[in-house]
Amino acid sequence: MNTEDTNRPHRDHERAGAGTVALAELLDLDAEVLHDHLAELTAWLDDLTDRPPGHIVDLGSGTGTGTLALLERFPGARATALDLSPQLLHHLSKKAHGLGLAGRLDTVQADLDAAWPELAPADLVWAASSLHHMADPGQVLARAFDALRPGGLLAVTEMDFFPRFLPGHTGLGRLEARLHAALNDGPAADWTGALARAGFVLEARRPFTVDLPAPPPEATGRYARASLSRLRSHADGLLPGADLALLDTVLGDDGPDGILRRGDLTVRTTRTTWAARRP
Ligand SMILES: C[S@@+](CC[C@H](N)C(=O)[O-])C[C@H]1O[C@@H](n2cnc3c(N)ncnc32)[C@H](O)[C@@H]1O
Repeated sequence: MNTEDTNRPHRDHERAGAGTVALAELLDLDAEVLHDHLAELTAWLDDLTDRPPGHIVDLGSGTGTGTLALLERFPGARATALDLSPQLLHHLSKKAHGLGLAGRLDTVQADLDAAWPELAPADLVWAASSLHHMADPGQVLARAFDALRPGGLLAVTEMDFFPRFLPGHTGLGRLEARLHAALNDGPAADWTGALARAGFVLEARRPFTVDLPAPPPEATGRYARASLSRLRSHADGLLPGADLALLDTVLGDDGPDGILRRGDLTVRTTRTTWAARRP
């Protein structure tokens, strides 16, 4: 994802609190549809940790997609979820209650660009799709370093680009490609240098390819609508009017041709994770 062109509107949007419900829905659907990817990722981190984590800190937890997956992966751990948005943290608390995980979770409202709250030493710090939102990611990484015990692990994960859903050989697939191109939806920032500057030793930088064929999981229609609607909200003036009108029709149509019910959706994306250790 090109941070200059596409993430700044997201950051302003979220700081203002508008669209929080839509963001919460998108994050939860992402975790549901990409459940297997998240499971593969947390299993990989399990292999990289030097001992089972007792305290996990989630930076920019949102609705806690990562927090909850990590609490399930590491049954002996507690987690502290930090986020700017009290609404998203409230949503996370409710989900944790429903899953019987509330007793192992603390949610703390915090602006990670400002002073951090007091934290118990962490064994694992997780930052998923959040570091690029920070005003000074280098400073956030330096604080994450301080938050970890020696030997502790930091996992930073980012989408390389927003998922693609429509078949590439069709007119709608080509429209989806034009939408991504217009928004400069491209490779994520490379955090390798910033991690080294913060004192971390990089254990691995691993790209994960997600390619769910048709028929994908049941929630994919809703996920595709939420994801494409988010891109559409930034596309005014960047695509011809006819493209925008067609996109609006596909996103608004509840019938068999609408995005919710199409039988030809797939999910294609890549995400990169950096796993780095505090020596
Ligand atoms: C794209 S969401 C990712 C949420 C979650 N990590 C996930 O992967 O589902 C980015 C999150 O970062 C949070 N965020 C952005 N800037 C922040 C800041 N300065 N301090 C704390 N949280 C921040 C937002 O509120 C949002 O929940």
